[in-house]
Amino acid sequence: MTARRVEIVADEEVLAQSAAQRLIARIAANPSRPAICLTGGSSPQRLYALLAKPPWRERVPWADVHWFIGDDRFVPQGDPLSNIGAARRAFLDDCAPAENVHPIDTTAPTPEDAARRYEDTLRRFHGARPDAPLFDLVLMGVGPDGHTASLFPGWNAISETRRWVVGVPQAPVEPFVPRVTLTRPALASTAEMLFLASGADKRDILRRVFSRNDLPAAKVTAANGDTVWLIDRAASPDMRHGD
Ligand code: 6PG
Repeated sequence: MTARRVEIVADEEVLAQSAAQRLIARIAANPSRPAICLTGGSSPQRLYALLAKPPWRERVPWADVHWFIGDDRFVPQGDPLSNIGAARRAFLDDCAPAENVHPIDTTAPTPEDAARRYEDTLRRFHGARPDAPLFDLVLMGVGPDGHTASLFPGWNAISETRRWVVGVPQAPVEPFVPRVTLTRPALASTAEMLFLASGADKRDILRRVFSRNDLPAAKVTAANGDTVWLIDRAASPDMRHGD
């Protein structure tokens, strides 16, 4: 496990640009079949919008890159709550070949079934390069209680060491729908884990995550890669309001 690195940028716009730069660099570093694990929530949405437009759009080798999702709500992809649905609408449907987009199958009978299917998908994909990390970049967010992906404080899923994907029958925060989430071992298998957080609303939880080790957002790190927190000034626990 490597130490966490925190980078503070001016605002949400610079944050999205910096994230896009990091994403392009990770894709370029893998000449075979780059794999990116996306996240839900509001934090990555500016980045997703950037990727759909020049100049970033031209910098992604769309035919080569494969796109996964770190967790999803157990709803149809067309539902506004769907994490992969949001990424599809923002950029994937317009830019990526359909066969390079790997959603969690929320038409499965239960979240557990969906989890098993997605674990098969990931293991098959990884089988082609078993010595390399599963992902080149894993995007993450942090919730108000310190959850990340759908790994909630005090819930069993955060302690899972064997399975790569699990069903979460209930969520303790909004939206209160069942989830399917990658576990620590799967998320940790990445060249880079990149957390995105912006806005003053994130300041308190970032202070807690950076000063304690028991919250999921602190526990989940890249096993042999870089763990980077890209945050804006408003979210930075060291900044007073208006700094
Ligand atoms: C989800 C997310 C979740 C999210 C955080 C932060 O499905 O809800 O994957 O882990 O990243 O809750 O959300 P915001 O970016 O909206 O603050």
